[in-house]
Parts: sequence; structure tokens; C-alpha cells
Amino acid sequence: MMSQHQSQRLSGEALETFSPNAQRRLDVSRLQGRVVDQSDEVAIDGWLGAMERGFLDALPPTLRMRRELRSTLVGSRVVGVYDGAADGFGDRIEQGDAAPVAETTDEEAAHRAIPASPAGTAQGWPTDLTLVGGASVDAWAISAVTVAGTHRRRGIARAMIADQLDAAVASGASAAVLTATEGGIYGRFGFGPATRSTTLRFDPRLASWRDDAGGEVTVRLVAPQTLRAEAPQVFDRARAAGDIGRRDVWWQQALRVFSLRLFNHGDSGTTLALRADSTASGRLEGFALYRVFGGEEHGRLVVDEVCAATPAAEAALWRRLLSTDLVGEVTARSRPVDGLLPWLLTDPRAVSPQQTSDSLWVRVLDVCAVLSARSWPRSPAGTRLRLRVGDSSGYADGDYLLRVDEQGVGSAERLAVAAATDASDVTLELDVADLGSLLFGYTSAGILAAAGRVQGVGEDQENALALADDLLATAPAPHLRTPF
Ligand SMILES: CC(C)(COP(=O)(O)OP(=O)(O)OC[C@H]1O[C@@H](n2cnc3c(N)ncnc32)[C@H](O)[C@@H]1OP(=O)(O)O)[C@@H](O)C(=O)NCCC(=O)NCCS
Repeated sequence: MMSQHQSQRLSGEALETFSPNAQRRLDVSRLQGRVVDQSDEVAIDGWLGAMERGFLDALPPTLRMRRELRSTLVGSRVVGVYDGAADGFGDRIEQGDAAPVAETTDEEAAHRAIPASPAGTAQGWPTDLTLVGGASVDAWAISAVTVAGTHRRRGIARAMIADQLDAAVASGASAAVLTATEGGIYGRFGFGPATRSTTLRFDPRLASWRDDAGGEVTVRLVAPQTLRAEAPQVFDRARAAGDIGRRDVWWQQALRVFSLRLFNHGDSGTTLALRADSTASGRLEGFALYRVFGGEEHGRLVVDEVCAATPAAEAALWRRLLSTDLVGEVTARSRPVDGLLPWLLTDPRAVSPQQTSDSLWVRVLDVCAVLSARSWPRSPAGTRLRLRVGDSSGYADGDYLLRVDEQGVGSAERLAVAAATDASDVTLELDVADLGSLLFGYTSAGILAAAGRVQGVGEDQENALALADDLLATAPAPHLRTPF
């Protein structure tokens, strides 16, 4: 279900057509960018086939899953770049992709013409982004960026990102966000890594619990679908810096209302769910989604999500997950780097981080909006910091003055060029991509300065860096709970 707010922000010429600025980049190669009409099933299936191939995947095998996959696009802006000079439009869906296994004798099972597919795909939708302190700003999520192997390095990705950023601005977004399959692609477009996630591995035999871990909460095994009404409320209560809003289609996949599984069309394992209710009120305080796999020596448990609005609910859920009979290994992906879990155990080594990587990438579009919406709890009263932001795409380029009051409330204004030469405030000069990495406290101004990426300007350079470090430091670490 799409909110009214989201549907409103997807209408208007700039959102319904491919950006003319971005198209100019494609003209030289005689390529054509288009916003794909979602009522045209052939065009949408062609787009989906190209997108899946881009991620080395195939269209899902059943008609039902394909319908579900199409529905994940509703409420988003779907863009293709087409090559009219190639055989038809771009490369074509292979026969195998175009022949879904019918679950019913549905008329859709009739064999269809193989649809044309684009050489490039991208998808964007309005969302909101939680900042430090809990306030959210309007944002634009970008996903499904792929370019066919036959069309790489011809500027298609660059044009599609330019189009998505123009759409983001037209939608009123203060920032664009994405998750990156490779770290070397998006910095040049003004995105900086802003949150980290880690994969945790547990040895349940070492998991001995501190006595006070997880009281006052009752945990029950339930069918995941039964959480449909209440789980989004728990997520909203738990939301913190680095989270984006979850679309209804995200929940439908995670809670197995859909047979389609998030990022995995091969149906691997059965999803089980735990609900943690307040013993006193019966209110849902947290839930966990997980899968179990048998093994010759011992079983394996994979935690897909633990989401809790209270520490007691989180402790109770982990306690139950780690005491599942016959399980010798538990892994959990997309966990925060500074989670609660090791501190609930008498032996913190029962939990070991396996792999930590960036998760959310942020591209600031409206500097004043994000600096004013973020809270600044560590600032001494009356703090002022000037930022000179470089942005080769022009959206955020300029000088800004941030003022923070004694309550930690910030207000930022863009300075006129004349004022920008006044050196009375300490000034930090940085690229917009690095602003994305500083905004959530992913790294510090001091570290970026040592790496030669940001600098203090004027007489008091050291002071500018120290002030920025004090201002921007955050705890707990920002975390994206919603891979997309
Ligand atoms: C990554 C991908 C989208 C790039 O598409 P593309 O059309 O070849 O990219 P462009 O020609 O527009 O290149 C734009 C810039 O990015 C650079 N670039 C492209 N792919 C890159 C990569 N994998 N790593 C580092 N830089 C890359 C180009 O060198 C170019 O740099 P420049 O303009 O500053 O000289 C494409 O290779 C792809 O589909 N990969 C598989 C799917 C994927 O990983 N998608 C990303 C999802 S987050």
C-alpha cells in the first residue's frame, strides 16, 4: 500500500519523464532514457528481466512471484535506457526467463512474445531518512541500477543517476540514499558511506546469559504473516539514525505474505517468527524472523531480523534464538556494529563479528534541511560552524553557516557569495560526498582531514576540525535496518 504522501510526490512532469539534462548525456550514443509505464506489462517484464540479469539473477520461476515482483515497483519511478540501434531495444530476455511455471491454468500462462528490454535500469522512490536525534527528512531511495554487459562504460549509469537526482529534487527530497554493490562507483556522484552493518556469528554453546537479560517479556513462536499489522509499528518505535521508511512491499516479502523473498527468488528455507510481548500489557514490543537448516553434525539458524522497541524485548528474543535445540551455529546479517548482544552474555566472545561493511550511502541535496533537522547534542551553546561544500553537480554547492543553540537545536542558512569570503567563523571545506559520511558520524572530520579529503580553512584550522569532531560525534552508531 502506498501512502498518499508518496503518490503525490511521484506526480508532475519532472517525475513522469526522463530528465532532459540526463538525456543530453545519452544523445551522443543515440540512447534513449524513459520512465517506464507500469501499466505496460511487456515493458515492465522487459525491464525486470534486464534488472535481474544485471545482478546475475533470473526472473522468478512462477507466475505468482512475477506478479509480486511487478508489484514491488508500484509507487516507484522505474527508468530504462533503451538502445534503438541494437536489435530491437537493447538485449532481449532469454527464452528461459520468459517461460514462467504456471501454478494455475491462468490465462497468463499462455505463451507471450518475448519482450524487449533496456540496456540500463534504475528505480527510485520517495522515502524518509531518520537523522541523529530521531527527526526524519524527505529522501529519495535509488535501487536496481544496472547496465547490460554489452553497454558498459558508455555513460549510461552516470545519466541514470543524474536523472534520479533530478527526480529526487523534484520530489522535494533533501537527500538521496542507496546501498552499493561496489564501493568505487557512487562517490563521484556525491554519495558517501554513512552507516555500517556487520554479520555476526554465535556459538550457542558459549551463550550463557546474565541473569537480568530479558525479563518482563513473553516470547512466542508465530506465523510471520500474523505480524503484518503490528510489526511496522514496532519498527517505527525502534527507528533511529540511518533508517529509511519501509515500503509495504518490503513487509510483504519479509513476512512471507509474498512467496517472493527479499533479494532471493530461490526459496531457501522456511521463515519462522517470534513475537515478544510485554507480559503486563500484551503489547507487541519486538519480533524476530529466522530460518533453520538441518545438518549432519548440528543445525544452523539464520537470523534475518531482530527488531525491538525495548532492550528487554531484544534481550528476550536473542535469548530464545540462541537456545534453539540442535542448533550449533547462528548467524545474523545486517546487525549494528555496537549492538546490545555481547553485553547480555557472560562471555562476549560467544558473538563474533564476521564481516563489517558500509550499508547506507547518503547524497545530500539540501544542506540546510539536513543540518537543521539533525540534532546536535554535543555542542556547547552558541556554536557556529561554516561549511564550504563542493558539489560538481551543483545541487549543494555553496557556503553554509550552522548555528546550534544550547538545546542542541541547529539552524543552517546558505550564505551569499559576499558573505562567503568573511573568515570570522571557523570553516570546514569538504566535498558533498564527505558531508554524507560526516552527517551520521560514520567517520570524523579529523580522519577525513588526515586523509586529505576535508580541510579547516582560515587562521584557526585546527579549531575548525576539533569543533566539527565534537559536533558530529554520535552514539550509538547509525544503522540501516532495511537493506534495499
Ligand atoms: C556499475 C554499473 C552500473 C556501471 O555502469 P556504466 O554504465 O558502465 O557506468 P558509466 O559508463 O556511466 O560510468 C560512470 C563512471 O563510473 C565509473 N565506473 C563504472 N563502473 C564502475 C565500477 N564497477 N567501479 C568503479 N568505477 C566504475 C566509470 O569509470 C565512470 O567514471 P568517470 O565518468 O568518472 O570516468 C555497471 O557496471 C553494472 O551494471 N554493474 C552490475 C550491477 C551493479 O553492480 N550495479 C550497482 C548497483 S548498486
